[in-house]
Amino acid sequence: MVYKISKEMDTFINENLGEIVKYEKVTGIKEMGGCFRVTLSHNESLIVKGDPSCLESIFYREIAPNLREKGVNIPHLIHTSFEESLNHYWTIMECVPYSLPRDRWFADQDIINTLVNLHNATWQRTFEIPGSYKPVWHEKMNAKIVSMLDNVNESRDLELQLNKLMQDSSELFLPYCNINGDTNPTNWGIRENNEIVLFDWERFSNGSPAIDLAISIPGIGSLDNQLELEIATKYLASWRKLDTHLFPYSEKELVHEINKAKIWVTIEFISNQVDGFNSEVVTWFLEKLPLKIKAMTK
Ligand SMILES: Nc1ncnc2c1ncn2[C@@H]1O[C@H](COP(=O)(O)OP(=O)(O)O)[C@@H](O)[C@H]1O
Ligand SMILES: [Mg+2]
Repeated sequence: MVYKISKEMDTFINENLGEIVKYEKVTGIKEMGGCFRVTLSHNESLIVKGDPSCLESIFYREIAPNLREKGVNIPHLIHTSFEESLNHYWTIMECVPYSLPRDRWFADQDIINTLVNLHNATWQRTFEIPGSYKPVWHEKMNAKIVSMLDNVNESRDLELQLNKLMQDSSELFLPYCNINGDTNPTNWGIRENNEIVLFDWERFSNGSPAIDLAISIPGIGSLDNQLELEIATKYLASWRKLDTHLFPYSEKELVHEINKAKIWVTIEFISNQVDGFNSEVVTWFLEKLPLKIKAMTK
């Protein structure tokens, strides 16, 4: 487990980029690997991110330059390296100074434009990284969620509903375009010049645009579909402006796909919480899930 920047990284930065004044672990990191903000003596900051699987390093080296050209702002890559003794990759990148303010967490136009640019630029000609994350929905995930509920009748109902939604979800996972796969509001930053930047590309993959739109919505989304409709309307307006590929869904159909994707990603999130079974966040999602399904199917 890597909790620190390694000696090798430390030496590389000091010799090539500037004298390190301090480094701090940044929030939102997983137990394995790590992400650090490094401050240099000339007051510049860098992000150093550990990457056990090497997938994100490949993304930054080989794919990001193509996407930047198409209007997807991604942190500038400064250096990647493989550290043999740790069997671990490191990515050094631009530190985006500001996080996304909360008043921009809902249907933000710049977020929607960025996602349109990403999806449109890769429409039916996706980049692939062998061994990368693949979004899937299988019955075991539903069964795990249902096993977490106390009420037997409720859980039987929910399992039937989830299995039906799952059977009806194949379009979510068709390789329409590349997706970031983790567009939640904590993965966006703002540059000094106000540009919005998407970091965290570990789940870069392919699928329906609805997946990225659903994940960009905080929590479970709205129960009256207003937020999803606003997002779908803005997304389609921005897509049409590019005047390239026809989009396969109407506003209403896109809202439906976004809702399905939201339920899938919620199931995926909960079923991945091995130790978080009793955590407040999981309990909150378990309470909201049946309400979301009801709102969606009425
Ligand atoms: N390029 C960056 N600029 C500024 N902050 C960053 C950058 N990359 C990551 N961070 C910060 O580190 C946190 C964790 O990094 P992230 O890439 O999202 O990894 P994780 O997969 O652990 O969520 C982010 O939520 C953000 O606060
Ligand atoms: Mg993140």
